[in-house]
Amino acid sequence: MALSRALFLFALIASIFSTMAVAKDFVVGDEKGWTTLFDYQTWTANKVFRLGDTLTFNYVGGKDNVVRVNGSDFKSCSVPLTAPVLTSGQDKIIITTYGRRWYISSVTDHCENGQKLFITVQPKQDGWSPVPSPSPSPSLDLVTPEAPPSNAPWPASSVPRRSLLPKKLFQIFNRD
Ligand SMILES: *[C@@H]1O[C@H](CO)[C@@H](O)[C@H](O)[C@H]1NC(C)=O
Repeated sequence: MALSRALFLFALIASIFSTMAVAKDFVVGDEKGWTTLFDYQTWTANKVFRLGDTLTFNYVGGKDNVVRVNGSDFKSCSVPLTAPVLTSGQDKIIITTYGRRWYISSVTDHCENGQKLFITVQPKQDGWSPVPSPSPSPSLDLVTPEAPPSNAPWPASSVPRRSLLPKKLFQIFNRD
């Protein structure tokens, strides 16, 4: 009795620790922090970001900020007026969705000077993915079915448009 209880507790504690070990806390830019004239693309190069991981942006609070934007605003260093802005100087962001994420500083010319971070978040387990790979595949764009031959026993409108659903799913998972 006592032994099985001890084993159970051990298993419970072990499983809690193994879950904790999976999530990583990334300090963006390491000891340089969130700043201009830093190559964040190189910083991300050898890292794998997964669901549940945390990004911490360190800088002097109030003197800079972190704004999550989309891909085109990332390229042009522009910030939508309604975007939430983090300013604490120790901003922690827990990654809860996978796919691509873009963060920039909206302070004067900081983004133009390299204060911009682009990451691609992987699903939690290796090889697990609820949808096909996020990279566009030609088959997903085939929404127009071939027209049936004129002597076909079904009307053209009832031809199943089987590629619509994957395309919808693809869009849902790539929204941000
Ligand atoms: C990104 O957001 C801006 C608004 O700030 C919008 O005008 C633009 O169309 C968006 N781009 C994409 C690719 O979603």
